[in-house]
Amino acid sequence: MAQPVIAIDGPAASGKSTVAGLLAARLGVPYINTGNMYRAITRYALDSGTDLDTRCTDKIFTPLLNTLQLEYRKNISGTYKLYVNGVPEDNRLRSPEVAAYSSRVAALPAVRNWLKARQRGFAALGLIVMEGRDIGTVIFPDAAFKFFLTATPEERARRRLVQAGETFDGATLESVARDIADRDRLDSTRAIAPLKPAADAETVDTTKMTIDETVDYLAGRINDGRS
Ligand code: CDP
Ligand code: CDP
Repeated sequence: MAQPVIAIDGPAASGKSTVAGLLAARLGVPYINTGNMYRAITRYALDSGTDLDTRCTDKIFTPLLNTLQLEYRKNISGTYKLYVNGVPEDNRLRSPEVAAYSSRVAALPAVRNWLKARQRGFAALGLIVMEGRDIGTVIFPDAAFKFFLTATPEERARRRLVQAGETFDGATLESVARDIADRDRLDSTRAIAPLKPAADAETVDTTKMTIDETVDYLAGRINDGRS
């Protein structure tokens, strides 16, 4: 039986979070951003003084994860917000340093296993929109709807460059494109749950699409699938 999940996967700055949030609001269902969970673990490791250039290993992360609690709490507006050891996440998760290290942290089996059980638990909420890299392939292989959002590397770099606080000071289109390409490569070539479209996902190239057009398109496909 299909799992009650709308899976939205894709590479960096393809529009996953924006589109997933708006789609969920339109459908009146919860939205869970799984990239933030990897970013929260990365932030926590950095804040704990871990040198992620030399100590990004399962052995270092296993005890760290034992002291970490990640929880999504529903707020007054009905949206779900990530709490890290009881504190609401903030824009420190979006820093370029966290983004850069997150792909290395996300390649660790200990981290992926720790998150897998937690992420699967969200199916208990009923229909949800869940966004990430491996939702349609690994977390919910039987998701009712699977979309893989893409855009050209140039367009994704342009989108990320104009997002306040998400790039290093003095960043240029070239440097952002390089950072994104590094992350694409790490995410697509890792041994566990690599970034790739599920065989039964619909790939949507958003290069020339606005956010609203993309949300309209996905909502239309979901309505078609339900009727
Ligand atoms: O927003 P952006 O696409 O740049 O990144 P994100 O969704 O916040 O994810 C940050 C990193 O977490 C990615 O580069 C992946 O390495 C990892 N990730 C993952 O491995 N699996 C997921 N389901 C979500 C994120
Ligand atoms: O979650 P992901 O990294 O895939 O992308 P995002 O953070 O949702 O979107 C990256 C940026 O691109 C945001 O500033 C969006 O507003 C923008 N965007 C856009 O300009 N056109 C689209 N079709 C999709 C996103």
